[in-house]
Amino acid sequence: MKTPKLLPAVIACMLAISAGAAMAAPQNEPIQPIKAAKPKDPALVELGKKLYFDPRLSKSGFISCNSCHNLSMGGTDNLKTSIGHNWQEGPINSPTVLNSSMNVAQFWDGRAADLKAQAGGPIANPGEMASSHVVAVEVLQSIPGYVADFRKVFGTDKVDIDKVTRAIAAFEETLVTPNSRFDRWLAGDKKALSANELAGYKLFKESGCVACHNGPAVGGNSFQKMGVVEPYKTDNPAEGRYAVTGKDADRFNFKVPTLRNVEMTYPYFHDGSAKTLKEAVDTMGRLQLGKSFSADENDKIVAFLKTLTGDQPNFRMPLLPPSVDATPRPQP
Ligand code: HEM
Ligand code: HEM
Repeated sequence: MKTPKLLPAVIACMLAISAGAAMAAPQNEPIQPIKAAKPKDPALVELGKKLYFDPRLSKSGFISCNSCHNLSMGGTDNLKTSIGHNWQEGPINSPTVLNSSMNVAQFWDGRAADLKAQAGGPIANPGEMASSHVVAVEVLQSIPGYVADFRKVFGTDKVDIDKVTRAIAAFEETLVTPNSRFDRWLAGDKKALSANELAGYKLFKESGCVACHNGPAVGGNSFQKMGVVEPYKTDNPAEGRYAVTGKDADRFNFKVPTLRNVEMTYPYFHDGSAKTLKEAVDTMGRLQLGKSFSADENDKIVAFLKTLTGDQPNFRMPLLPPSVDATPRPQP
């Protein structure tokens, strides 16, 4: 008597399991979903967030990380090349900080191994924040609110650049953008993409874009030549990975950018020369693959790329502790 009673429950259970399997990420897709961040040390992240938004890390007291990696605009400045200290025009386009924790290395040429190594760069770069590590630490050390934060997080009142960059990197690790429509499609929600967007994904895969733009970040995991089939014409003097390795074979190799949130991170390429996604897709097709996409194919690929926009960082703006009389003041 017991078995027949159990049977419906067993069937229901099996159905649930098979539905679960259908919802699981399809195997063998070249792009995988992004996982939500699980910060290990929330107090460290909170301190990093303050530092990320604090313009007092710059000489002018005017420029923060968020000036060039604006978290309201896809983690970029949407400029061809960035504007730094005293309105200096920068040499290269500002990449997004969103999902940058997934990069094989940081910067277009990969000269920083990780986010912590990267974060010290802009503070002391004369063309960016134009301060120095000594001055930036002096500023923070003078501010009682920051000293209290450093004590809470690190167990010491002593501020140094190592702790500053650790905190900024921990905050950046939280800047991931899961749950894009494409991720929902990967997870089995077949209604998450339109037929047009799906056709764009098929073109993206079958044309060979996925050879370089793959993995959870749809890029960020290798250095590749810009201009494989046809040379890239630009006035920008950057030579990419060659600057780091000095090897001829690395000349004009750049880190393949992530295409997550690419709808928000215009203009495109290291020189910021492509104003629109349409233009960037056309250039990629011709230069990297020797393919001229029709207007319709281009539209479809662009429609697919726009499905890669995920949940943007969502947090309370940090309140920055005030300077005191002894805090070094901004300089011209
Ligand atoms: C590159 C973070 C300040 C402009 C990067 C990258 C990260 C980052 C993670 C590498 C991304 C990648 O390679 O995919 C930060 C942080 C800052 C900061 C944490 C504050 C401490 C600034 C400022 C500017 C700026 C103020 C503009 C004046 C750029 C540019 C690049 C870059 C142009 C590319 C440089 C190259 O590849 O040679 N930043 N950034 N950043 N950032 Fe920032
Ligand atoms: C940059 C799309 C194929 C390597 C880009 C960008 C887009 C894109 C939209 C600009 C991203 C940004 O600046 O934020 C595509 C599409 C492809 C394709 C739709 C297929 C038609 C490839 C292939 C490779 C490649 C096959 C490697 C051989 C790169 C590199 C960059 C880039 C190195 C940066 C170039 C630079 O800034 O100088 N791609 N891509 N891409 N892609 Fe592709």
